[in-house]
Amino acid sequence: MKTFNVGVVGMGTVGAGVVKILLGKNSPLKEKLGCIPLLKGVADRNPGAKNRVDLPSEILYTDDAKVLLHNPDIQVIAELIGGVHPAKEIIMQALESGKDVVTANKMLLALHGSELFKKARQCGKSISFEASVGGGIPVIAAVRDGLIANRIDSIFGIVNGTTNYILTKMTKENVKYSDALAEAQRMGYAEKDPSMDVDGIDSSHKLAILARIGFGTDFDYKQIYCEGISTIDLSDIRYAHELGYTLKLLAVAKRTEDYIELRVHPTLLPNDHPLSTVNGVFNAICIHGDAVGETMLYGKGAGQMPTASAVVADLVDVGLGRADITFRAMKTFSGNCECIPIADILQIQTRYYLRFTVVDKPGVLAKISGILGNYHISIASVIQHESKENGNVPLIMMTHSAEEGNLQKALAEIKRLDVIKDSTRFLRVEE
Ligand code: NDP
Ligand code: HSE
Repeated sequence: MKTFNVGVVGMGTVGAGVVKILLGKNSPLKEKLGCIPLLKGVADRNPGAKNRVDLPSEILYTDDAKVLLHNPDIQVIAELIGGVHPAKEIIMQALESGKDVVTANKMLLALHGSELFKKARQCGKSISFEASVGGGIPVIAAVRDGLIANRIDSIFGIVNGTTNYILTKMTKENVKYSDALAEAQRMGYAEKDPSMDVDGIDSSHKLAILARIGFGTDFDYKQIYCEGISTIDLSDIRYAHELGYTLKLLAVAKRTEDYIELRVHPTLLPNDHPLSTVNGVFNAICIHGDAVGETMLYGKGAGQMPTASAVVADLVDVGLGRADITFRAMKTFSGNCECIPIADILQIQTRYYLRFTVVDKPGVLAKISGILGNYHISIASVIQHESKENGNVPLIMMTHSAEEGNLQKALAEIKRLDVIKDSTRFLRVEE
């Protein structure tokens, strides 16, 4: 059996999963392949990391990544430490030492992908990154290879397991936000800094990667509009449900004639939308291509073994020589990509859920709807319950499709009305 040698840098949640698969006694890799990845060494700075997997004595173990980077027997490095520094330097050094790289580090690719890809091209080596989006779902391969014949019009979905886990717990089990987050951390879903998850930043890193591959364009990652779930109020989840909608944190990339929309934000979806039924740590990504039409990929978006599954798939690609061919053919981050303008959030058009806190007296609805009407925003439905808090009541509206710039102007005007008693909450809707 032919083999190739792998060095794993970072034996945390994902790295330990990769090591377990590579050391597996009845590995399906041996049954399916004529050339398999062999674990040569592991580097982790955390003294407790060694206890995560029972490593055979022949596996080199070190707390210093450089030991693996300088080892001429290692052909491929799996960077699984996360963050920008020193992950970036480790990858650069691995490439310079003539090693291919596999990484799950979406933050690094979103922020420094161009520089890293340039280095890999100069060194004649590859960078593979299937685990960077969608955990165990092979979405990178699908967008890059399987759907290559298509002009992609839209890629949107749930790409963060932690936030979907939290929202599901809040919606279905009435669990408090902080408890649900703590549970997601315990399960190994969350980033080291969980604000990356809950503030939508991790989703925007993933959206940057998907949009660059799917649309064959390059852009500054900071152009992605990003809003997280930390300010979500349970009452909005309940009212939305009454209106027939489910709340999800969506990453949305849409291509129009003139621009691309790139945005991450809490979004209401009709209850019968396929994404509304994606719960817990599961992710799902809908991709629309001109030839294939609508597709949807679904699976566990975070966690040890699903993510390790994607990392090992990349390692196999390197060993079989596929990664090299794919990497050389890919225009992503080449500097030769089409430049398409990115839409400002004020240009987008969606329906909106609005929750006003108003005094309970005649004429309030007329005042608010009058202002909305002046900005060409028409109301599709309204809910007002009798329950009162300090004489104030929530007034919920669902609008028809409107431009966000107009909505923002209308809300600024409505805010000045004496009948408005608290800040107004609005959520975007996708159909
Ligand atoms: P963990 O924090 O669980 O593991 C990282 C490990 O690497 C830790 O043991 C850490 O030690 C160690 N480490 C950090 N810096 C160094 C260094 N300079 N040299 C050697 N070891 C180092 O992270 P995860 O496994 O969860 O995530 C790894 C990567 O995979 C990240 O990029 C993440 O975004 C990505 N990812 C994670 C998923 C998940 O479900 N967890 C899913 C998909 C992608 P210490 O504890 O001391 O920092
Ligand atoms: N923190 C990430 C998530 C890990 O929850 O989706 C997977 O990329």
